[in-house]
Amino acid sequence: MDYMYAPGKNHLFVPGPVHIPDQVIRAMNRNNEDYRSPAVPALTKILLEDVKKIFKTTSGTPFLIPTTGTGAWESALTNTLSPGDRIISFLIGQFSLLWIDQQQRLNFNVDVVESDWGEGAKLDVLASKLAADTAHTIKAICIVHNETATGVTNNLSKVRKLLDEYRHPALFLVDGVSSICAIDFRMDEWGIDVALTGSQKALSLPTGMGIVCASPKALEASKTAKSVRVFFDWKDYIKFYNLGTFWPYTPSIQLLYGLRAALDLIFEEGLENVIERHRRLGKATRLAVEAWGLKNCTQKEEWFSDTVTAVIVPPHINSSEIVRRAWQRYNLSLGLGLNKVAGKVFRIGHLGHLNELQLLGCLAGVEMILKDVGYPVKLGSGVAAASAYLQNNIPMIPSRI
Ligand SMILES: Cc1ncc(COP(=O)(O)O)c(C=O)c1O
Repeated sequence: MDYMYAPGKNHLFVPGPVHIPDQVIRAMNRNNEDYRSPAVPALTKILLEDVKKIFKTTSGTPFLIPTTGTGAWESALTNTLSPGDRIISFLIGQFSLLWIDQQQRLNFNVDVVESDWGEGAKLDVLASKLAADTAHTIKAICIVHNETATGVTNNLSKVRKLLDEYRHPALFLVDGVSSICAIDFRMDEWGIDVALTGSQKALSLPTGMGIVCASPKALEASKTAKSVRVFFDWKDYIKFYNLGTFWPYTPSIQLLYGLRAALDLIFEEGLENVIERHRRLGKATRLAVEAWGLKNCTQKEEWFSDTVTAVIVPPHINSSEIVRRAWQRYNLSLGLGLNKVAGKVFRIGHLGHLNELQLLGCLAGVEMILKDVGYPVKLGSGVAAASAYLQNNIPMIPSRI
């Protein structure tokens, strides 16, 4: 039974959770199994190898944890750090704020580097802190790759360059929750020590699996890290990896089969093609926003996000009203403005199992809603700008040529 049924497919354009592909839904439609039989370890073993590809790592050790992105954060922190450790953390929006809150509640000594919402991490401040830290008191740098609240993507290769420039041994911990599998992400090349994501974002699975990947350096750090951890302890996972049974506790069988199907779809399309598709979705959305005469919350092009666009509304309009109407009248789900930007922005999520024509439906909906709330937009203007770009840039579908 549907609560608040509406005909047709809901246009789910929040930046996660996203639509689940039919192939994945079908793969998950199965009974429970004995996870101690040989089948589930065999499946898990291959999944652990394949999941490394989405992080672009060969040396990392992945953990498929029954949790959400928030639990994945906790896993990354508690396995590598000790209470009192000094860490640098960038506050650029609601999700980096929540991660910082968790870091503080776990009793780390958090050196917060704050930016205005809509701006990226202040890497010049990082440079001066690294330069001053000759005693290496900084144990980790924590950064959200793509701040989902503002649509800001940070430049991770620059962070790595700074760490190398100052020969600083700090661990490099990255939240890739709304970037991995959608925005270029290179764990090994960028020397990331812990990278993490959640199943309900670009992987297009149900919520419930946190995927954390640890570098050899992070695994080494976990041997001496003193933070209390039980459920998230990597040691327990590794013990069962070595036994070949893989699971310290009961996995969700359905999510494992779902992950298999989700990875198959990503590999069939090609990870680079997936990333390119997100580039087109991001660019098309930004062109529409510009055509509507509205501003992107993201202040500079270098930070534009290809998975989420936060659109600033004129001061006389409450963006929550736009989100409410979208759902009530057009069966379109948009993202609310969060915290500091509540009422001021609405967000268009353009990630996961999504194609360009679906996006145009969303953009057409946004135009009608803008008109509904009294913003003088010309119907079709954003769709025209986006489709003019898309018509020139959508490639042929490889399997259909
Ligand atoms: C960048 C980022 N990090 C972390 C989280 C938290 O993930 P979860 O809600 O799955 O715990 C989110 C959720 O949207 C997110 O966007």
